[in-house]
Amino acid sequence: MLRNFSIRVPNTIFGNGVVNEVGKIAKDLGARKVMLITGRTIGKSETLNKVKKSLEEAGIGTAAFSEVEPDNPIENVIASARAAQTACCDMIIGVGGGSTMDNAKAASVLADFKDIDKVDIQQWLGTDKVPRRGLLKIMIPTTSGTGSEWTMPIIVMNQGRKAAMRSAYLVPDYAIVDPLLTLDMPQKVTAETGMDAMTHAIEEYTGWRPNLWGDMIAAEAIRLIGANLRAAYAKGAENVEARYNMSFASMIACNPVLSVGANLGHGTAHALQSVMHNLTHGEACSMMLCAVMSFNMISNLEKFATIAPLMGENVEGLSTREKAEAGIEAIRQLSIDVGIPQRLRDIGMKKEDIKKAVDILFEYQTGLVNQNPRHCTREDATKIFESVW
Ligand SMILES: [Fe+2]
Repeated sequence: MLRNFSIRVPNTIFGNGVVNEVGKIAKDLGARKVMLITGRTIGKSETLNKVKKSLEEAGIGTAAFSEVEPDNPIENVIASARAAQTACCDMIIGVGGGSTMDNAKAASVLADFKDIDKVDIQQWLGTDKVPRRGLLKIMIPTTSGTGSEWTMPIIVMNQGRKAAMRSAYLVPDYAIVDPLLTLDMPQKVTAETGMDAMTHAIEEYTGWRPNLWGDMIAAEAIRLIGANLRAAYAKGAENVEARYNMSFASMIACNPVLSVGANLGHGTAHALQSVMHNLTHGEACSMMLCAVMSFNMISNLEKFATIAPLMGENVEGLSTREKAEAGIEAIRQLSIDVGIPQRLRDIGMKKEDIKKAVDILFEYQTGLVNQNPRHCTREDATKIFESVW
């Protein structure tokens, strides 16, 4: 474990009601006019009004782009960047879930180019290809799952497939994380985003390059999600403590994945989404997570054995292998309790589509496959999908 690692997190303010600080924070960063990027629902919400009011009270002008689409199609990034440029904004604030924040992070760079039409942002896909930092950016999450407010990569939908841009230029200047903004999240979104955060935490905890920072954070994220997701799902609007803990867990869970590396859980989930377009990211991650854990378990049986206690399970008297299996079952039970479908056939996937998903996995998600703690062949991946089918 004597591994080198770096820690890169944005300036952060966390807590109930902190969204009202956005005006002061934007002013201190030097903003004069802000483009507020949201999806359609948040675009009409009280949350956006609060953000606007705080900015206006600080003497900062605002404009809004409320057309972010699910899964952040690359064309949508171009549209929001163009809107920010047309409105002469010098700061971007993303208010919403993962797709919105990812859109805002990419748009903050693109809007800084004089002639947007001459920029091919497909060239920015991959690692360290984003050319500059661009406009100032603040992220305000309204879900608890993605962790995008605290991380550098973004995901876009490029020609129907998920693709990533990873760059230090995409780290927000500030994260404003207010759990009260997540109180009214629908049950389905609570479940899916919460299980996305769990997938981040598990992939980081059991990843191929563990380090002290990642281990500490992932263990706490697993513990918090295990202890709070059910209550947040059951009646989140009336359970501020569960929402608070989920907001914190999701914020921290994704960050060290950058150094440890997301792996086959996200890889198979992205491939699955490319075949089953109606699945959300969190739903796809959650459906694949336990099968990938079962496959990866032998890569570090002792580490997997520590997951069950973090999930509140009593493992006294069990062998190391039984403890590891108990941890996977605890995660499975959590996903069942929050209503995640368990079988690919139940969501309409045809068995012959497994081959398509495996093809996509090995064509477009090789980075995630290569980072997996256990070597994975096409045959292995087929078996993993079949076990969930
Ligand atoms: Fe994720």
